Amino acid sequence: MQIAIDGPASSGKSTVAKIVATQLGFVYVDTGAMYRATTVLANRLGLDYGDEAGLMAKLVDAQIEFQPDQAGQKVFLNGEDVTLTIRTPEITNNVSQVAALAAVRTEMVKRQRQIADQGQVVMDGRDIGTTVLPDAAVKIFMVASAKERAQRRYAENITKGIDTPLATLQAEIELRDQKDSTRAVSPLRKAADAVEIDTTKLTIEQVVAEILAITKQKMPN
Ligand code: CDP
Ligand code: CDP
Repeated sequence: MQIAIDGPASSGKSTVAKIVATQLGFVYVDTGAMYRATTVLANRLGLDYGDEAGLMAKLVDAQIEFQPDQAGQKVFLNGEDVTLTIRTPEITNNVSQVAALAAVRTEMVKRQRQIADQGQVVMDGRDIGTTVLPDAAVKIFMVASAKERAQRRYAENITKGIDTPLATLQAEIELRDQKDSTRAVSPLRKAADAVEIDTTKLTIEQVVAEILAITKQKMPN
């Protein structure tokens, strides 16, 4: 059983995917964190974020690993804990450029499928239902208004002591969505057989319940 959850930035994918995975005993795979760790690698190497050949020379041997943690999951790049680094503005503002590189996507998709081959997964990202797991039994496309998504990010930032203006956050989210939706290789798209859930006015619990209900219908008895 595979559950694919796609959608634009801050629509609630990872929050909901983690809970669904825990409730079902599935492995949660945060593919956005993999592209973010790849962006950290480019940054550490001092590369231009568009330097595909320079990045690929190191990415093929780079280890990107997840480790369960009370707060969710820790992310490691070549053994270094980069859980906090991957969420910094430098990485957030450049990840879409790195994620648009065709060779980077081929490498990431290969790794994501290897993880999925090992067991039951809930995987979230932008191209899971369309490209990574086209045969997933459950495909969800999660959306919410840009204003609501910016407000959620704002509220999350405040708890971390970060006070970026709401308008800046909304502009950043809309720019990233635009880049992710218009790139040449596997852009952000709703798969033809995905169920769209608009979470603008829903609580996390309501979204989780909806996905669990859809999943139960697909589960073999
Ligand atoms: O959590 P947030 O919505 O901020 O983004 P994320 O899921 O961590 O993904 C970060 C970026 O990685 C996205 O904006 C995309 O550029 C890229 N990404 C992708 O291209 N394909 C995926 N399957 C997942 C993420
Ligand atoms: O993974 P993605 O970027 O799609 O979103 P996220 O990192 O899960 O962030 C979504 C934020 O909105 C979190 O702070 C959640 O607590 C909040 N939220 C949500 O995920 N779903 C709702 N229905 C309401 C709020």
